[in-house]
Amino acid sequence: REKLKQYNTVDDAVELIKKSKRIMVLGGAGLSTSCGIPDFRSKDGIYAQLQHGDAQYAQALSDPTDMFNKEFFLYDPTCFFSFAKQIFPSNFKPSPSHRFIKLLEDKQKLLRHYTQNIDTLEDAAGIEKVLHCHGSFSKAACTTPGCTFTVPGSYIKEDIFAQRVPKCPKCSEAEEAKKQAKSGKSQKNWKADDNDDDDDDELDALPGIGVLKPCITFFGEALSGEFDQCVVQDREKVDLLIVMGTSLRVAPVSELVGHIPHSTPVILINRTPVTHLAMDIQLLGNGDEIVDYLCKRLDWQLPLPKPSKE
Ligand code: OAD
Repeated sequence: REKLKQYNTVDDAVELIKKSKRIMVLGGAGLSTSCGIPDFRSKDGIYAQLQHGDAQYAQALSDPTDMFNKEFFLYDPTCFFSFAKQIFPSNFKPSPSHRFIKLLEDKQKLLRHYTQNIDTLEDAAGIEKVLHCHGSFSKAACTTPGCTFTVPGSYIKEDIFAQRVPKCPKCSEAEEAKKQAKSGKSQKNWKADDNDDDDDDELDALPGIGVLKPCITFFGEALSGEFDQCVVQDREKVDLLIVMGTSLRVAPVSELVGHIPHSTPVILINRTPVTHLAMDIQLLGNGDEIVDYLCKRLDWQLPLPKPSKE
């Protein structure tokens, strides 16, 4: 996509938001840093912490992104579960940036919020038209191929905080039965059974099989089909794209920018510039301060944070 020449300034941004009726928001970790959740790629982000902060992780991970790699997870689920409590959504409250997106919805201007975040703060902010592109901790599912056992995120919360690997109860039962059958067999006949499926045994041997993995999209996993469906629906309708708090480094979500019509303006609200994709207007700085400024210019009132349930 090429930059549209007619839009450049913050005044243009204000006018665009004012006149647009079907705004797509594409958000990332920068929406939640002011809530106390680090982003991934900043100097103090999760990847830098994994690489330089904790020797345990620096040793275990050849690359910090391996923490969210499906293949690595299957080999060593303990690594992810020793870390997961740090990113499990707990008592965080939505930021003014989340509340700005909610305000777009209240003003009937939000087409959809595509979030890459897994912290569920969009839900806490009450945003209804949201697509969790990278899933969330709201569910966990068994990793055994063919096992469909799925639980609400709350089911594994205790394990996450105890840094334990949560096991699928169905598969644990089956595993136990299998072990017993094997030990029975070895008493009767120690020779290998020709019908044994070696591939199955190999897969079963991976420590990450039979584990309840939070339904967040890891590298090496496909996004849900809903992402494609939403993009196809929304690209016909969108009249403005606002990109907020994301480095746009991870496909396919970053490719959304190229999927919308070229005539649709794109505004970036971010601490750091995006140089690898054409943004028409870049509003650079602290996102919360920028949305606050925009609201003043639009004569809009940000909704107040919802009172905490606890
Ligand atoms: P990144 O860490 O890559 O980018 C966050 C962006 O937000 C950076 O460009 C920051 O400059 C900006 N930022 C941080 N705090 C901000 C603030 N207060 N105001 C404005 N901007 C701020 O995070 P994402 O782009 O979300 O995927 O990362 C995308 C995906 O990469 C994640 O969903 C995750 C990760 O690997 C998976 O785990 C699958």
